Amino acid sequence: MDQFVIRPSLPSDRLWINSLMRESFGDERVVAHGAIYTPADLPGFIAEQGRERVGLITYNIDIESCEIVSLNSLVEDRGIGSALIAAVRQKAAQAACQRLWLVTTNDNLRAIGFYQKRGFRLADLRPGAVDEARKIKPAIPLIGSNGIPIHDEIELEIHL
Ligand SMILES: CC(C)(COP(=O)(O)OP(=O)(O)OC[C@H]1O[C@@H](n2cnc3c(N)ncnc32)[C@H](O)[C@@H]1OP(=O)(O)O)[C@@H](O)C(=O)NCCC(=O)NCCS
Repeated sequence: MDQFVIRPSLPSDRLWINSLMRESFGDERVVAHGAIYTPADLPGFIAEQGRERVGLITYNIDIESCEIVSLNSLVEDRGIGSALIAAVRQKAAQAACQRLWLVTTNDNLRAIGFYQKRGFRLADLRPGAVDEARKIKPAIPLIGSNGIPIHDEIELEIHL
């Protein structure tokens, strides 16, 4: 596989981001911890291989903290997810954020392992939070990765 490059997302990526969100999460919006985000409206980084987009991370910087709102690698196990996280981590540090954090769901065993291997620590567990989010976004599936019913949010963080 050719090497990929990481670049900031641009307004011209919006349509692609919306369609990736629809394909991956059933909706252009992401609902987590009671907040509703549209990743296409957020800053982000894109992994590109040749002229093809192969990954996306979006984030939201708040006072002193940076949330990873979405992360998608379309070619797994080649370092794309790690490189996208590194790009946001650098951005968060430049913005003097003290905390980089994200929410994933109880079914996503790959993500839970992936983030911990990259230094994230478990920070919170919100039982039933996805059931609540489903009331706002009915497209959230009942069954997720590995055939596991999706109910709960898991928050992970790194102190910068
Ligand atoms: C979780 C996710 C983002 C990981 O992305 P990824 O691009 O596969 O991540 P990486 O390639 O950086 O790392 C995955 C593994 O590949 C390995 N790897 C990296 N580069 C490699 C290479 N050149 N050759 C072989 N293996 C490699 C890494 O070591 C890593 O293994 P480890 O976790 O045991 O250390 C991806 O699986 C994904 O998009 N999942 C669906 C959406 C999702 O769940 N998003 C997160 C929700 S919060």
